[in-house]
Order: sequence, then C-alpha cells, then structure tokens
Amino acid sequence: MPDKSTHARRAFVTGGASGLGYAVAEALLSAGANVAIGDIDRKSLDRAVETLNSPRLVAFELDVTSPQSVQDAIRACADKFGGLDTLVNCAGVIEFVTVDEMTEGQWDRIIDVDLKGVFLCCQAAAPFLRKSEQGRIVNISSDAGKKGYALISGYCAAKFGVIGFSKAIAGELAPYGVTVNCVCPIGVASTQMGQKVLEYLSQRTRKPAKELLEARAESTPMKRMPVTEDVVNAIMFFISDESGFLTGEALNVDGGTLTTSGIPGIGEL
Ligand SMILES: NC(=O)c1ccc[n+]([C@@H]2O[C@H](COP(=O)([O-])OP(=O)(O)OC[C@H]3O[C@@H](n4cnc5c(N)ncnc54)[C@H](O)[C@@H]3O)[C@@H](O)[C@H]2O)c1
Repeated sequence: MPDKSTHARRAFVTGGASGLGYAVAEALLSAGANVAIGDIDRKSLDRAVETLNSPRLVAFELDVTSPQSVQDAIRACADKFGGLDTLVNCAGVIEFVTVDEMTEGQWDRIIDVDLKGVFLCCQAAAPFLRKSEQGRIVNISSDAGKKGYALISGYCAAKFGVIGFSKAIAGELAPYGVTVNCVCPIGVASTQMGQKVLEYLSQRTRKPAKELLEARAESTPMKRMPVTEDVVNAIMFFISDESGFLTGEALNVDGGTLTTSGIPGIGEL
C-alpha cells in the first residue's frame, strides 16, 4: 500500500488563504505534505502564498459555491500533485440576523458557502480520494452545528447540515478506505470570522471585546477560549494514520463546553 503518512499527503484546503484554513495549510506543509489552498479572496491568497513560501504549495482562486470553479481547482490540484488524498473544508461565512429580518439572499449565501460548498468540494474530490485508498476528508462544522444559537439560524442550519452530510458520505466512502470527519470548534477569536463575531457582539452589548472574551473563557469548563492550534491539532489527527479507523465523527473542540458543566442546577464548583 502506498505511504499515506501525513508527510506524503497531497491536500486541498478550502478557505486556505486565512484563519483556520491557513493554519491547517501551514501545519501540513511543516509535516512535509503537498498542499493546495483554494480561496475566493485573491489578495489574501497572494499574501498566504508569500508568507507560506513553499515549493510544495499551490494556490487556486476558488468559489466553493460554483461547481465549475470547484471542479477546475480540484482537478488542477490532482494533476499537479499526481493525485489527491486529503480534503479539508474550511471556507465559511457567518451572518447575524433574526429570522424575521433575514432575506432570502442572506439565507442562500450562508447555505451556499457553508453547506453546498462542502458538498461540491467533497463531490469533486471523491473520485481522487477513492483512488488513493487512504483518503481523508475533514470538514469544519462548529458548536453551532450541534446547538442552536439565536441570530445565526442560517449558520446553524448549514453547520448542522455539514455534520449530517459528512456522516452520510462517511458510509459511502468507508469501503474505499476514505474517512470523513468533522471538527466542531467554539469561537476562535483570532481569525477574520472570529473578529467579525466579536465586533458584532461588542457593538450589540456595548461591552469591550476584551471583557466579552474573558466572560466566554470563564464560562468554558476549561476556563479558556480555543486557540488556532487546538483546532489544527484536531484536524491533523483526523488526517493522520493513527485515526484511520475513525469515520463519521464530529469532534468538539470546545474545552468541554457542549459536554459538561459544574454541579447540576448550580454550575460553579
Ligand atoms: N473562528 C471561529 O470562531 C470558528 C468557530 C467554529 C467554526 N468555524 C469555521 O471555521 C472555518 C474557517 O473560519 P475562520 O474562522 O478561519 O474564518 P476566516 O474568515 O478567517 O476564513 C474563512 C475563509 O473562507 C474564505 N471564503 C469565504 N467564502 C468563500 C467562497 N465562496 N469560496 C472560497 N472561499 C471562501 C474566506 O475568504 C476566508 O479566507 C469556517 O467554516 C467557520 O465557519 C470558525
């Protein structure tokens, strides 16, 4: 069987120009993999190519909502690397709006990028991943893919959908040695999306971002917010040889937030 350790992998990372996608690309390159990053934001993409600065990196301007754009980029990546065995779906957007005020356009955009985009990329990559026999798909869902939050109903719908979709195709691809898993992080404040969320909440509550972050950390069982590495480590685990028997999982990266709390009815110990 061909060597499919992380260093030998050929990976496509959507949303790879910034935030979590960029950090995953960086980790894969450090491990020795060949990496393609795909992103809609040309400027960020150029910056990422410059800072990642690796002969094993290629970049594609990509709109995950467009079947043609996705197919062209994934095929070109497989041509360049002589195949493809790893797909990490990180492209995503978020919108804060009540269900009463949400326009059809806002709903469509969130579902198109956050859910249909994952479908299109998985569909385009699947033939290559099957061929590789030890393929890996890791999709970024969210704690909002397991719990409903007010004002982000579109995002929640998409992220719940990503988990359902991933579990379903995990069954289709398992016979070919391909695993499909999700990671479900709580808010990572350092990314573009994290900053957008923080700015919105700060404006809405009229509280400084620092105060909001401290309160969120305090309400987390492990008393801190996640850093990028927490999410990247979970993704790298799902890409590694060691996770080869795990598929259809949706792993919380949340310091226990969704799973545990203090004394029943009281909370704090
Ligand atoms: N930061 C958080 O708090 C957090 C928490 C849970 C889950 N997530 C998820 O993690 C993923 C990465 O988010 P992030 O925090 O790194 O945010 P980010 O904004 O830094 O990265 C998202 C990237 O997706 C790209 N993108 C947006 N629309 C696209 C499209 N149509 N086609 C291709 N690329 C597109 C953006 O240009 C950007 O580079 C997202 O799916 C997000 O929902 C983030």
